[in-house]
Amino acid sequence: MELTHVIGERRSIRKFREDSIPDKTINELLNAARLAPSGSNLQPTRFVVVKSPSVRAELGACTPCKFITRAPVIFVCCADRRSLSTRDKRVGELVEAGAFNDIDMDPTDSKTYGNTQMNDSAVRAYLSMNAAIAIEHMVLRAVDFGLGSCWIGMFDRKKVRQILDIDNDIHIVTLLPVGYPDQSPPQRPRVPLDRLVLKTV
Ligand SMILES: Cc1cc2nc3c(=O)[nH]c(=O)nc-3n(C[C@H](O)[C@H](O)[C@H](O)COP(=O)(O)O)c2cc1C
Repeated sequence: MELTHVIGERRSIRKFREDSIPDKTINELLNAARLAPSGSNLQPTRFVVVKSPSVRAELGACTPCKFITRAPVIFVCCADRRSLSTRDKRVGELVEAGAFNDIDMDPTDSKTYGNTQMNDSAVRAYLSMNAAIAIEHMVLRAVDFGLGSCWIGMFDRKKVRQILDIDNDIHIVTLLPVGYPDQSPPQRPRVPLDRLVLKTV
C-alpha cells in the first residue's frame, strides 16, 4: 500500500472483529518495529505478545479502555533499560558497518551532546521516545495488512507488570491492541497545517 495512503487511512481502532491474526503477520509487525531507528542504535524496544483470551481479560482490568480485550492480540510495548549499557557495543557496530564513513561528524564530541548522565525520568523519556518510533512502525505496517490498532496510554503499569511478571529493568511504554477493524471512522480532528510551524527562518 502506498505510504501516503497508509498514513492517511490510519485511525485509532476501538472495535475489532473476532478473527485471529496469522503468526506470520504478527512477525511482520514485530519486524517493522525491529527496523525502526533508535538513538545510538540501542534498539531498546521489547514486546510481550498477548494472545491468550484470559490474559487479555486480565489486561482489560488494568485500563478503562475495556475494548482492548476484544482485540485478538495485545502487544505490551516496553523498553529495556539494560540497553543503555550496550551503547559502546552498538556504536562500535555502527562504526564497523561504515555508518560514519566520510561523514562530517566529530565522534569525540558525543560526550558533550549525548545523554550520558540521565536521571530516572530522563531515562524513561528517552526509552519511550525510542520505543514510540518502533511502535508507530508497527501501527503503520498493521494498516498495510488491513489491521487496526490503538495506542493505550491509560493503564496501571504496576498491575500489568505483576500480571505478566515483567522485571523492573523493563519500562512498560504502552499497550497496543491489534485486530481487524469492526468500524471505519472518519478522520479525527487535526489542527491546520500552519499551526505546526512555529517559524520559518
Ligand atoms: C501516546 C498515546 C496514548 C494514547 N492513549 C490512548 C488511550 O489510553 N485510550 C484511547 O482510547 N486512545 C488513546 N490514544 C489514541 C488517541 O486518542 C488518538 O490517537 C487521537 O484521538 C487521534 O485519533 P486517531 O488516532 O484516530 O487519528 C493514544 C494515542 C497516543 C499516541
